[in-house]
Amino acid sequence: MSINIAIDGPAGAGKSTIAKRLAKELGFIYVDTGAMYRAMAYYFLLHDIKAEDEGAIAAACPQVDVTISYENGEQQVILNGENVNGVIRTEAVGNMASASSVYPVVRKKLVELQRQLAEKSDVIMDGRDIGTCVLPNAQVKIYLTASSATRAQRRYDELTAKGVSCDLAEIEKDIIERDYRDMHRETSPLMQAEDAVLVDSSHLNIDEVVSEIRRVYEQKVKA
Ligand code: DC
Repeated sequence: MSINIAIDGPAGAGKSTIAKRLAKELGFIYVDTGAMYRAMAYYFLLHDIKAEDEGAIAAACPQVDVTISYENGEQQVILNGENVNGVIRTEAVGNMASASSVYPVVRKKLVELQRQLAEKSDVIMDGRDIGTCVLPNAQVKIYLTASSATRAQRRYDELTAKGVSCDLAEIEKDIIERDYRDMHRETSPLMQAEDAVLVDSSHLNIDEVVSEIRRVYEQKVKA
């Protein structure tokens, strides 16, 4: 049986950085489920489909094929045969992903793909509903969070380091809105699974978070 580690939490909590590091250390495959929702969102944006238009989203879904592959250990998201990794990281795509992922028709497709991946291999999968819905039997479940101020500051630092000018207050406002939407949608909202371990990274660095999750893994899986 494969070993599954689920990491859920709000946007900007550091899930992907931590999950990637841990996957490397443990020799697991890292599955970034947010990237799959982003690929679908990218398709909707390309085709001028509005997030509010559930009918149009449902009609488009059969046209959208999302798969993933790995290149040098890095997950690549393939949308209808095209690698979209380079174009799905914008705020516009992230916001569209948050808005369009409320629909069960969107989620159903991706949850199936996620479960197939977890059945085949030892995975660390991050997202919003992994411990509660996608992999309810995951051996390790982590709810990774941080204050909205900390998450906004990290995002601000990341963008300014890249030379992108941005506004800290604006970023925090965006984060709070996204949290609200992800936590209050009807289908699979973001929440801590009953058996998940809460890790607050507000005052922890990457190494500290990784070693805390490793400690939980060793306690639950190795014991
Ligand atoms: O993790 P991320 O920021 O790349 O995710 C983008 C959006 O996709 C997020 O705001 C909500 C949605 N999402 C989801 O609904 N379920 C997941 N398992 C992962 C992401």
